[in-house]
Amino acid sequence: MKEIKKELLKKILDVLDYRIAIVNQNMIIHYANKNFIDEYGQDKVIGKKCYEIIYNKKSHCSGSSDVTCPLAKSISTGKHIRVIHKLNEEKDVLIEVYPLGQGFYGLILTEPTGYHHLINKIRSAEEKFKVILDTATDAILSIDSNHKIILFNNAAERIFGYKKEEIIGKDLNILIPSYYGDHAVYVKRLLETRKPKIIGKTLTFNAKKKDGSEIPVELSLSYTELNGEITFTAIIRDISEQKQMKRKLLQSERLAAVGKAVAHVAHEIKNPLMIIGGFSQQIKKHISDEKSRKKIDMILDEVSRLERLIANLGDFTKEYRLIKRPSDINSVINDVLKMMKEIYPKDKYRFVAHLSPEIGEIMCDPDKLKQVFINIITNAIQAMENGGTVTVTTQNLTDGVEITIEDEGKGMSEEELLHIFEPFYTTRDSGSGLGLAISYRIIEAHKGEIKAISEPGKGTKFIIRLPLV
Ligand SMILES: Nc1ncnc2c1ncn2[C@@H]1O[C@H](COP(=O)(O)OP(=O)(O)OP(=O)(O)O)[C@@H](O)[C@H]1O
Ligand SMILES: [Mg+2]
Repeated sequence: MKEIKKELLKKILDVLDYRIAIVNQNMIIHYANKNFIDEYGQDKVIGKKCYEIIYNKKSHCSGSSDVTCPLAKSISTGKHIRVIHKLNEEKDVLIEVYPLGQGFYGLILTEPTGYHHLINKIRSAEEKFKVILDTATDAILSIDSNHKIILFNNAAERIFGYKKEEIIGKDLNILIPSYYGDHAVYVKRLLETRKPKIIGKTLTFNAKKKDGSEIPVELSLSYTELNGEITFTAIIRDISEQKQMKRKLLQSERLAAVGKAVAHVAHEIKNPLMIIGGFSQQIKKHISDEKSRKKIDMILDEVSRLERLIANLGDFTKEYRLIKRPSDINSVINDVLKMMKEIYPKDKYRFVAHLSPEIGEIMCDPDKLKQVFINIITNAIQAMENGGTVTVTTQNLTDGVEITIEDEGKGMSEEELLHIFEPFYTTRDSGSGLGLAISYRIIEAHKGEIKAISEPGKGTKFIIRLPLV
């Protein structure tokens, strides 16, 4: 029976209008039907390589630049492959390759019809579209009229943290923070009014990632209608970095402008202040009335407070010309901590240092950096009214060093964090609000970075990164 079945199969294959062959993974022909043999010659076919027979070539098709070998592609992907190859100026051939298992592949060759050509064009357009979609650096996503996500490219996976498989078919609201309301309502309204005001414009807002965090994005929207089915497609760009750069630039510009104005005012005040102080001292000597002497003392106190403020301002407005030399950050920190331990009561404040012995010397201005560490640690102490621990850590980075200074103080709100590096921003009665502004400028002059992480009631951590040179 088995033999009969085999014979029947052979007969069927022979009467078919297709050229059919079975090849192995070395591209050697093991079987060919009648049509195939009639086309390519009785004795030549079996045991020969398919490309020798079909194309009269010495190597397989992927060896030449303009065509891909469907058999090689099927071998590498394990999938059914269909291509149309040009045999010569007038003749095309449609080739389909089917993996049959056990290292064998079925080749079916036929003359392509208009229909085949069309399908082929659509397929290759689709393939091109897919490549463009997945190599784009912006996220591209589409939703249908039911607000369900129907397209999600590679960049979207990267930006939002979702895999295609887990997000296709989900409601778009999954990517929109809840405070914007139900986005589906807008889409519904858009569909009803058919007046898509936002189409073609660029919008900025926040998007929600898989981990719940939010990122600022820029979005442009388009819509297409095909056979009554509407699709909205958005191109989305992650602008977090851009926004951060802008903020930094603005901060530097603002600091520079304020610095100039302050330098001018400080200069103008210095001389009158010296006169007020000097004359007050002289007048005091000639006054015997106790009440008046006390008033003069108050004038003198205030004058010296103003003089201290102006000295501080001088620090802030100075162009930071660094005197860089190879220095050991750990020993700068140890010096500062030693000083702090002397100043602040031991039973109230503890200073802990985790200093990596691996960090060597870096090119920096150790005196200016000392000022930065003193400013930050002083703030930390002031934030811990009931005492606590300040922990200083150093570690190596691939291209620099990182210093963190952590306290257990009252912490800061998000709003406060936005302003702490601005000059004159202070929440303390006796503060001038210059400590961190000066520190920021010193670190900026080193081409380093400084930032703070904090939450109310949870302490504050300052992170400083400095380059090696
Ligand atoms: N470790 C910290 N914990 C809580 N708040 C802090 C901390 N460091 C800074 N701040 C906040 O940042 C503000 C600005 O700090 P900055 O050092 O620039 O000025 P200041 O300490 O107020 O005054 P100055 O340092 O000029 O005497 C502080 O007033 C405080 O509100
Ligand atoms: Mg301070």
